[in-house]
Amino acid sequence: MHLSVIGCGYLGAVHAAAMASIGHDVVGIDVDERKIASLSKGEAPFFEPGLPEILSEGIASGRLRFTTDMAEAAGAQVHFVGVGTPQVKGGYAADLTYVDAAIDALLPYLAEGDIVAGKSTVPVGTAATLAERVAPTGATLVWNPEFLREGWAVQDTIDPDRLVAGVPAGPAGERAAEILRKVYHPSVGKGTPFLVTDYATAELVKVSANAFLATKISFINAMAEIAEVTGADVTQLADAIGYDDRIGRKFLGAGIGFGGGCLPKDIRAFSARAEELGRGESVAFLREIDEINMRRRDRAVDLVVEGLSGSVFKKNITVLGAAFKPHSDDIRDSPALDVAVRLHGLGAWVTITDPAAIENARRIHPQLNYVDDRDEALRGADAVIVVTEWDEYRRQLSPEHAATLTQGRIVIDGRNCLDAAAWREAGWTYYGMGRP
Ligand code: UDX
Repeated sequence: MHLSVIGCGYLGAVHAAAMASIGHDVVGIDVDERKIASLSKGEAPFFEPGLPEILSEGIASGRLRFTTDMAEAAGAQVHFVGVGTPQVKGGYAADLTYVDAAIDALLPYLAEGDIVAGKSTVPVGTAATLAERVAPTGATLVWNPEFLREGWAVQDTIDPDRLVAGVPAGPAGERAAEILRKVYHPSVGKGTPFLVTDYATAELVKVSANAFLATKISFINAMAEIAEVTGADVTQLADAIGYDDRIGRKFLGAGIGFGGGCLPKDIRAFSARAEELGRGESVAFLREIDEINMRRRDRAVDLVVEGLSGSVFKKNITVLGAAFKPHSDDIRDSPALDVAVRLHGLGAWVTITDPAAIENARRIHPQLNYVDDRDEALRGADAVIVVTEWDEYRRQLSPEHAATLTQGRIVIDGRNCLDAAAWREAGWTYYGMGRP
């Protein structure tokens, strides 16, 4: 099938390449010339395992191309819209400027029977409004939310755990759902659940999934706070409750909390939208979820201060990690980088290392000292804090080896990812999050 993908950021670039890899003919369109130039050469503008490979394959096969010219969307049967919906400046709501601009730019090229498939995360009610704008062209709007995780984006797009299509009532909606089934033929063929809903449900599926995930993380982090005043160990608590398959162990990793380009902004936009709908109280708990999450960053900083006997002023602190999670170079709303910045603000000499995110971090926080080599970064440190659980720190850094490099033997495990007993045995004073 001929497809266009409008917006070639995280979501769109991966979607375009993944659709080409399952046999479609795809044109990716974005207003950012640099992004398009890089994608056209088969280079991913961000770190995402597996993406460079499917980009190059798609381009070599002739089935994938990128352009800044919206006119090239003409002729595609399905137009995916995957532009960003950031948090508005000075508020919590989602900024729909890019979605509106993408739809406006696409309208002149739509033909009778085309499908416009919205993938961006939007406030509930957006699709119904956009559908009215699309209707005069004879195209049909569907809402097809995306659940990809950064770091696993290629796999999540090619082989998702479910597909959701929000469609209008009646034959046009049924036809649109049928066409989307064809687009996602490998997943549909192997029996991946394909849920057909109305617009509002499809929009809500996405934000409520992210709200639930954020809630799960903040729940365990709230238990970490209780563990801290009772001497309990939140990691054992998570294991024990996680064996209950109604609860499950996933997303019960206590630590410095969630960040990234999705969870923080999505729960805030959801609160803002619920308030507009007169149902603010229904998701009032999301404010607490956000606050618990932010408090964990304070806690990590406090532990470093405590480890260094009350002050970090003029102390050498090595921060292991900058990305909001491993397998990503994304530093948007990264709790890891925030902890580093806060320590710097307290007068510490902060050295940061990260396998993928240094360049991005340096651009936003040039005041910090960045070192590519992990061991070089550790040299002379008075204290070490792990804030992103990369294998390079979690598995491949032995406490004995680290001790040969640092000045002090204080380690703060901001992700509860180290073997506490092994670090203590090697002479380190170990501090976990919500652990004795
Ligand atoms: C998330 C959703 O998982 C995905 O479905 C959606 O499409 C986009 O948002 P992503 O932002 O890539 O994906 O990251 P995710 O893997 O969900 O992690 C989010 C944050 O939560 C990270 O900062 C991570 O470190 C943190 N986290 C995750 C925890 O603190 N504890 C956990 O147990 C799990």
